[in-house]
Amino acid sequence: MINYSQILKTLKGLVRPNPGLQMGPLGSFIQSKKAWLPFPMNPPEGIPEDRLEALQRCLALALALELPVGDWVQSQNDLDPQEALALTHNAKDELTHYEAFERAFKAYGATKTQLQEAYQFAQRLEELPEHLVLKAGFVELSIFFVMLALMRRFGDSQLKLLTKYVSRDESCHVRTNYHLIDKHGLRFQDFEAINHLRASIIRWVTEPLKSQRHGSEFWETQSQNLMQTRKSSELKSLTDVGIMPAFFEMPSY
Ligand SMILES: [Fe+2]
Ligand SMILES: [Fe+2]
Repeated sequence: MINYSQILKTLKGLVRPNPGLQMGPLGSFIQSKKAWLPFPMNPPEGIPEDRLEALQRCLALALALELPVGDWVQSQNDLDPQEALALTHNAKDELTHYEAFERAFKAYGATKTQLQEAYQFAQRLEELPEHLVLKAGFVELSIFFVMLALMRRFGDSQLKLLTKYVSRDESCHVRTNYHLIDKHGLRFQDFEAINHLRASIIRWVTEPLKSQRHGSEFWETQSQNLMQTRKSSELKSLTDVGIMPAFFEMPSY
């Protein structure tokens, strides 16, 4: 299990920006964030069983699939200071996400078995040879954004609010990670393997759904669109219909 309080202690000293540091686009990504805190969550009411199961699986994955980007930054001696700061800032957000999703996991009555299954996917992801920033960007874009939209579609008002906050952060993370991926020309070594894992994860999360319109096939298509084009107009229109302003605004590259 990851020792998040220890990581947080280490990160606290690292996220103070150096006033002389010119951050460029990475700085504008950080500035687009808004601070928020995890909040208490109660068990949801009236969610049909198939949707509840899919939501529980999303929450299990949200806990299991966090990648140790903060640790990785600290282990690098020659990282550009701007890039280290941006990645560390994002890693700090992940600690907030973890705490908030842990509360949602409990409130939604997700199980140890679901968490164990999610950790099996995390283990497979860890074993893949890809650069950590490439993995993080890929997972955020083609898995987390799909799960966030699913939670926004089927969750209760507490989960909708949580996904709104998390999505705003993740949007910034994706922009940061893809900026670095493009800048450093990071390329997949075994795209087939990570793409296969992506599809398996989306299938596992969505297979309980009985919805005709927003069943497994719908979410798989959105995941593929995001992966291939970094956009999904379907997810944007889906989330635009919600009770709050749309969170799903993919960056323009
Ligand atoms: Fe996150
Ligand atoms: Fe993230």
